[in-house]
Amino acid sequence: MAVIFLWLLFAATLSSCMGNKNMNVLCNDKDRHELLEFKQSVKDPMKQLSSWTTEEYCCNWSGVQCDNITGRVSKLDLHCPPDIQCLEGEINFSLLFKLEFLSFFDLSSNNFKTIHFPLLNASTNFSNLEYLDLSMNYNLLMENLTWLSHLSSLKYLNLSGISLKNEPLWLQHFTMLPSLIELRLSGCSLNSENLSLGYPNFTTSLALLDFSNNSFHSEIPKWLFNLKDLRSLILGSNHIKGILPNWMGQFKQLEQLDLSNNLLSGPISSTLGNLSSLKFLDVSFNFLNGSLPIDIGKLSKLEVLAIGNNPFSGMISEQSFTNLSNLKSLSLDSSEFTFDLGSHWKPPFQLEKVSISYCKIGPEIPSWLYSQKSLSYLDISSSGLSFNVHDDLKFWSFVTQIDNLFLSHNSLSGDISTTLINNTQIDLKWNSFSGMLPHLSPKVIFFDIANNSFSGPIFPFFCQTMTKEEHHLEVLDMSHNLLFGELPKCWKKWQSLIHLNLGSNNISGKIPTSMASLTKLQTLRVRNNSLFGNIPTSLKSFKSLWYLDVGLNEFTGKIPTWFTHLSLALLLRSNKFSGPIPLQICELSSLLVLDLADNKLLGPIPKCLHNITTMVTNTVDEGLFLTYFHKWVLAPISVRSDLEDLPLFMKGQELNYWHSLKLLHSVDLSSNHLSGSIPLELVTLSALQSLNLSHNHLKGEIPSGIGNLKLLESLDLSSNQLSGEIPQSMSNLSFLSFLNLSYNHFNGKIPLGTQLQSFDGSSYIGNPQLCGAPLPKKCIQNGKSHSLKSMEHRDDDDDDWLSWFEMGMGIGFASVFWGLLGILLFVRRWRDAYFQGLDNLFLKVQRIW
Ligand SMILES: *[C@@H]1O[C@H](CO)[C@@H](O)[C@H](O)[C@H]1NC(C)=O
Ligand SMILES: *[C@@H]1O[C@H](CO)[C@@H](O)[C@H](O)[C@H]1NC(C)=O
Ligand SMILES: *[C@@H]1O[C@H](CO)[C@@H](O)[C@H](O)[C@H]1NC(C)=O
Ligand SMILES: *[C@@H]1O[C@H](CO)[C@@H](O)[C@H](O)[C@H]1NC(C)=O
Ligand SMILES: *[C@@H]1O[C@H](CO)[C@@H](O)[C@H](O)[C@H]1NC(C)=O
Ligand SMILES: *[C@@H]1O[C@H](CO)[C@@H](O)[C@H](O)[C@H]1NC(C)=O
Ligand SMILES: *[C@@H]1O[C@H](CO)[C@@H](O)[C@H](O)[C@H]1NC(C)=O
Ligand SMILES: *[C@@H]1O[C@H](CO)[C@@H](O)[C@H](O)[C@H]1NC(C)=O
Ligand SMILES: *[C@@H]1O[C@H](CO)[C@@H](O)[C@H](O)[C@H]1NC(C)=O
Ligand SMILES: *[C@@H]1O[C@H](CO)[C@@H](O)[C@H](O)[C@H]1NC(C)=O
Ligand SMILES: *[C@@H]1O[C@H](CO)[C@@H](O)[C@H](O)[C@H]1NC(C)=O
Ligand SMILES: *[C@@H]1O[C@H](CO)[C@@H](O)[C@H](O)[C@H]1NC(C)=O
Repeated sequence: MAVIFLWLLFAATLSSCMGNKNMNVLCNDKDRHELLEFKQSVKDPMKQLSSWTTEEYCCNWSGVQCDNITGRVSKLDLHCPPDIQCLEGEINFSLLFKLEFLSFFDLSSNNFKTIHFPLLNASTNFSNLEYLDLSMNYNLLMENLTWLSHLSSLKYLNLSGISLKNEPLWLQHFTMLPSLIELRLSGCSLNSENLSLGYPNFTTSLALLDFSNNSFHSEIPKWLFNLKDLRSLILGSNHIKGILPNWMGQFKQLEQLDLSNNLLSGPISSTLGNLSSLKFLDVSFNFLNGSLPIDIGKLSKLEVLAIGNNPFSGMISEQSFTNLSNLKSLSLDSSEFTFDLGSHWKPPFQLEKVSISYCKIGPEIPSWLYSQKSLSYLDISSSGLSFNVHDDLKFWSFVTQIDNLFLSHNSLSGDISTTLINNTQIDLKWNSFSGMLPHLSPKVIFFDIANNSFSGPIFPFFCQTMTKEEHHLEVLDMSHNLLFGELPKCWKKWQSLIHLNLGSNNISGKIPTSMASLTKLQTLRVRNNSLFGNIPTSLKSFKSLWYLDVGLNEFTGKIPTWFTHLSLALLLRSNKFSGPIPLQICELSSLLVLDLADNKLLGPIPKCLHNITTMVTNTVDEGLFLTYFHKWVLAPISVRSDLEDLPLFMKGQELNYWHSLKLLHSVDLSSNHLSGSIPLELVTLSALQSLNLSHNHLKGEIPSGIGNLKLLESLDLSSNQLSGEIPQSMSNLSFLSFLNLSYNHFNGKIPLGTQLQSFDGSSYIGNPQLCGAPLPKKCIQNGKSHSLKSMEHRDDDDDDWLSWFEMGMGIGFASVFWGLLGILLFVRRWRDAYFQGLDNLFLKVQRIW
C-alpha cells in the first residue's frame, strides 16, 4: 500500500514538473512540418533550435509549447538573451498564419533582417494570436504595417527597436487593433509629424503605451485624454515640449508616468496629486520649474519619485512627503530646492535609493538619512557636505551597508585607513580625506578617491590585502593624492581591473613586468609621477588598451611599439624617450590624439602619419565614431573627464556642439630633437585640429598644401629652422585661432587673409626677413609678388563647415551626436546626470559606468 502511495506521489510530482511540456498530448504533424520549414529558413549560429529534430516530440522542442488538449502549437518563445544574437535571416510570416492555434509568438532580440508576408486577402483573420514580440531586432526592415490588420486579437505588441520611419500611417495601424492592451514602441524612430493630427481612436482596453526613445517634437498629444484608463504612459526620451496638461490629473488608473528626458516646461500641476493609483513618477531631465506641489505628498501608493534635473525652486518640507509611506526611490538631483526637513523628522518611508546630488542639503549630513535602513543606493555628491567632529564614525558605520555610494565633490574629511570598504561602488573623489589608504573587500568593483589628500605608500593597499579571495575591482582611480612608493608586483590579485589611474602622486620606480597580468586593462594612466626605466614589453598583453597616458615621468628608452591595438590616445609627453619616432605609430590607424612632446626624440617626422586614417578622413566615419563613443560612454566619468581636460578640449565652452568633435584630433611632437623637413604627407591629415611641431630642428619650407588642413585650429611651428615664404594656402585655414611661427627663418610677405592678420606680431616674431601686417615691418617693393589673390580664397566659414558636416554625417548621426556627445562634452554636470537618467530608464549600467 505504502509503495503504491509513494509511486503515485512520485508520478504526480513528475507530471507536475513537466506540466508545461504537455507530455500527454501528441504533437500535430502539420505544425511539426511548419516548424521544421521555419528552422530550415533561418540561420541559427548559436544552435538554439538544435532540439528541433524529427526524433524528438515537437511539443518538447525548446521554445515550443502545445495546447495540452489539442496538441497544436500554441506558444513559440524564441527570444534571445540580451547581447547574444541567435536567429538570423528572414521572418516568414507564412509560419504565423499556418500555425492557426498560435497565441504567443516571441522573436525578440534576434537578428532578423527582413519579414516576408504572404499574399493575404483582406478577410484573412488570424484570431488566435494575442502576443507578438519582435522587439530588439534592430536591423529588421519594416516597410509598412499593413499586416497588422490581420491580427485582430492581438493584446500585447512589442516592436521596440525596429525602425518604423517608413510607415507614415503607423498610428492609424495601431488604432485598428481592437483588443490591444499593451503597445511598446520604444526606439522605433517615430516622429510627431502625424501624432497630433486627428483623434486616433485607440481601444479602451489599452493599458500600456510606450513611445519612449523616439523623436516626438510635439506637445503632449491631446488625444491621450481619451485614454483615461491607461495604467502606464511612457513617453521618456523624446523632445516633447510644452507644459504638463491639467487633464493628466484625471488618469485615475495611472500607475506609471514616465516623461523623463524631454523638453517640458512650466510647473507641475497640483492636479497630479489626483493620480491616486500612481506608483512611478519620472519627470526628470526636463525644464520644469516652480515648486513641488504639496499634493504630490498625497500619492500614498507612490514608490518611485524622480523629479531631478529640472530648474525647480521652492521648498521641500516634511509636508511634501506626508503620505508617501511606500516610497522606495527618491531622485531630486540638480534641483534648486531649499530643504526644510527638521532634524527630528521621521520620514514615513524606508527608501532603497536616494539620489540628491547637486542639492543644497549641506553642510551637515541630513539626519533623516540615518533613519533609512534599507538603502542600497545613495548619491549625495556635490552637496556642500562636511563632517562635524565625530560625525564621520557614525556616518561610516551607517554607509557600510550601502552598495552604491556616491560622495564626490564635498568637503568630507577624516582618516579612513582602518575602514574596510565593502561597497560595490564607492566614489569619494574631490573631498578632503587624508591618512593612509583603506582596505578593500573583494566585493568592491568601483573605487574612486581622486583629488583627496590620501598619503603613504601604495604597497599595503595592493599587496597586504585582508583576504585571499580574488578582487573584483574594475575601476581604480587614486590620482591627485599624496601617495608614494614603488609600483607593487602583486597585480595578479587585481586582474579584473579595466581602468587604472594612479596619476599625479609621487610614485617612483619602474613599471614591474608583473603588471602584464592586467590583461583587461582599457585605460592606464600614471601621468605626473616619478616613474622611470623602460616601459616593459610584457605590457603588450594589454590587448584592450585604448588610452595610455604615461606623461610627465622620467621614462627612458624607445617609444613602445607594441600597443598595436591602441586607439584614441597615446600620451607620452614630458619623459626622456629617445631614438626615432617608430613607424609602427602609423599602424595605430584609429588614433585621435598623439602626444610625444618634450622628449629626446631624434630623426625625421615619419612620412607615414597619413596611415592614421582617423586623422585623414575629412568625413567622420560614423561607425568609427560610435565605437569611440561607446567606449567613452562605458568609461567611468573620471576617464571621460580626463579626455575633456586634455588641453585640446579646453576651448569647448565658446564653441558649439559640432565643433567639439573637431577638437578631438591632434598631433604634438614639440620640444624634441626632430630634424629633416615637414613631410608633405602631413598635409593630408585633413581632420587634424591641432598640430604642434615647435621647438625642434626642422628645416625646409612649410608644405604649400598646408591649406588642406581645413579644420586646423591651432598650429605651432615656432622655434625651428624653417625657411621660405609662408604659403598662401595658409589663408584658407579659416578656423585657425592660434598660430605661432616665431623664431624660424621665414621670409617674404605674410599672406593676406583675415585670419593671418588677426594674430598679433608675436605669432611671427623672430623671423627678421618676414614683413607685412601684422608685423610693423613694411614689405619693400618686390614684396608685391604676394598679391591680394589670397583674399579671393576666403570662404564663408560657416558654409565651409556645414558642407564638411553634411558630407560626413547623416541626420541620424546628427541627432545622436547632438543628443549625447553635445551634452556629454560641455555641460558636465548635466552630462553626469544625463547618464544617470539613461540608466534609470534603460541601461542597467551603473551611474559611473
Ligand atoms: C518530453 O520530454 C520529457 C523530458 O523532458 C520526456 O520525459 C518525455 O517523454 C518527452 N515526451 C515525449 C512525447 O517525447
Ligand atoms: C491545460 O493547461 C491549462 C493552462 O495552460 C491548465 O489550466 C489546464 O488545467 C490544463 N489542462 C490539463 C488537462 O492538463
Ligand atoms: C514562406 O513559407 C512558405 C511556407 O511556409 C513558403 O511557401 C514560402 O516560399 C516562404 N517564403 C519565403 C520568401 O521564404
Ligand atoms: C480569402 O481567404 C480565405 C481563407 O484564407 C478564403 O476562404 C476566401 O475565399 C478568400 N477570399 C478571396 C476573395 O480570395
Ligand atoms: C476576426 O475574428 C474575430 C474573432 O474571431 C472577429 O471578432 C473579428 O471581427 C474578425 N475580423 C475581421 C476583420 O474579420
Ligand atoms: C508592405 O511591405 C512589404 C515588404 O516589407 C511589401 O511586400 C508589401 O507590398 C508592402 N505593402 C504595402 C501595402 O505597401
Ligand atoms: C518590449 O519593449 C520594452 C520597451 O518598451 C522592452 O524593455 C522589453 O524588454 C521588450 N520585451 C518584453 C518581452 O517586454
Ligand atoms: C533608442 O533607440 C535606438 C534606436 O532608435 C536604439 O539604438 C537605442 O539603443 C535606444 N536607446 C535606449 C537607451 O534604449
Ligand atoms: C503623415 O505624414 C506623411 C508625411 O510624412 C503624409 O504623407 C501623410 O499624409 C500624413 N498622414 C496623415 C494622416 O496626415
Ligand atoms: C474617432 O472617434 C471620433 C468620435 O468617436 C470620430 O469623430 C473620429 O472620426 C474618429 N477618428 C478616427 C481616426 O477614426
Ligand atoms: C560585505 O558585504 C556583504 C554583503 O554584500 C556581506 O555578506 C559581508 O559580510 C560584508 N563583509 C564585511 C567584512 O562586512
Ligand atoms: C601605410 O599604408 C600603406 C598602404 O595604405 C602601406 O603600404 C604601408 O606599409 C603603411 N606604412 C606603415 C608604416 O604602416
